[in-house]
Amino acid sequence: MSRLRARIIGTGSCLPEKRLTNHELAKMVDTSDEWIFSRTGIRERRIAAEGEYTSDLAVEAGRRAIAAAKIPADSLDLIIVATTTPDLIFPSTASIVQHKLGVSASRMPAFDVQAVCAGFIHALAIADQFIRAGTCWRVLVIGAETTSRILDWQDRGTCILFGDGAGAVVLEAEIDGERGILSTHLHADGSQLELLLTDGGISRGKSPQGGLGVIRMQGNEVFKQAVKAMESCVDETLLANNVSKEQIDWLVPHQANIRIIQSTAKRLGMPMERVAVTVDRHGNTSAASVPLALDEVVRSGQIQPGHRVMMVAFGGGFTWGSALVRW
Ligand code: UT7
Repeated sequence: MSRLRARIIGTGSCLPEKRLTNHELAKMVDTSDEWIFSRTGIRERRIAAEGEYTSDLAVEAGRRAIAAAKIPADSLDLIIVATTTPDLIFPSTASIVQHKLGVSASRMPAFDVQAVCAGFIHALAIADQFIRAGTCWRVLVIGAETTSRILDWQDRGTCILFGDGAGAVVLEAEIDGERGILSTHLHADGSQLELLLTDGGISRGKSPQGGLGVIRMQGNEVFKQAVKAMESCVDETLLANNVSKEQIDWLVPHQANIRIIQSTAKRLGMPMERVAVTVDRHGNTSAASVPLALDEVVRSGQIQPGHRVMMVAFGGGFTWGSALVRW
């Protein structure tokens, strides 16, 4: 019997124009460029303009991925958007994206996935399952955020970390090919949700600040959990595919903190030249961070056919996961 595998045939990304540097942040809260850079590796992040929504960034990233894949947008069978900062409570951002792409007439399904910073890996895993099952041939997977809208701009422990952006991939089924997604691995542990959450929401009601909620994080504890989870996910992925560390060509990790990225790279014995790093310029863009970093290394021509690419992410929930791809 023939086997279906999901191959990435195009990537794309989009960042808002506005840059917010550490120096500018130091005028807003009690911090410094030196502190932020030495603890996180971040120099600047992008912030969506007024009237610029998650779906706007998602659509642009999606268009670029579709153009790179050289396919007509109406040949897609499914759109999945990973986001924690949707335009509206409903409809889903994916429905809005479908409309803005001008492909509503195709009646393809479109829905959102919410797994915070691990959202893109979750969306990728779902798309992979749809393709392996033979239900879909082409899927657009997007990670998009306007995280700046859920920040407390007086909390120096969180407002210095996050940024806005979107990244996307087009997946296509390939019959009996060697290339494509080899495996995906997803995890969640809801027992520690108090360490990283928003302080308000739809059902619980408004945050003390009045809005739908802002990010509250016990950074140091989250840091330790992130390192542990990402390292164990990397080990799990190697084992599941019976490949050694040396056989991994590229690491594309979630961009939360350069020190977490470095420890994951160390676990793989991977020199930093083969690790996608955008945290210095993007900060933590949550569900957008992995596809943004992926698009950058793909477009630079550094990822070549045949390369094994490991993606791994960790976020609120806690949720975490990985995907191994043969490019
Ligand atoms: O993407 C989802 C997952 N999220 C993450 O992975 C984030 C993980 N956490 C982190 O990246 C780090 O924990 C942070 C960058 C958030 C914080 O770095 P840290 O080295 O863990 O610092 P800390 O929270 O232990 O705080 C150390 C000190 C504290 O002061 P005292 O109590 O020692 O006097 C903080 O108040 O640094 C202080 N501090 C700051 N100082 C200057 C915290 N934020 C800042 C700041 N500027 N922005």
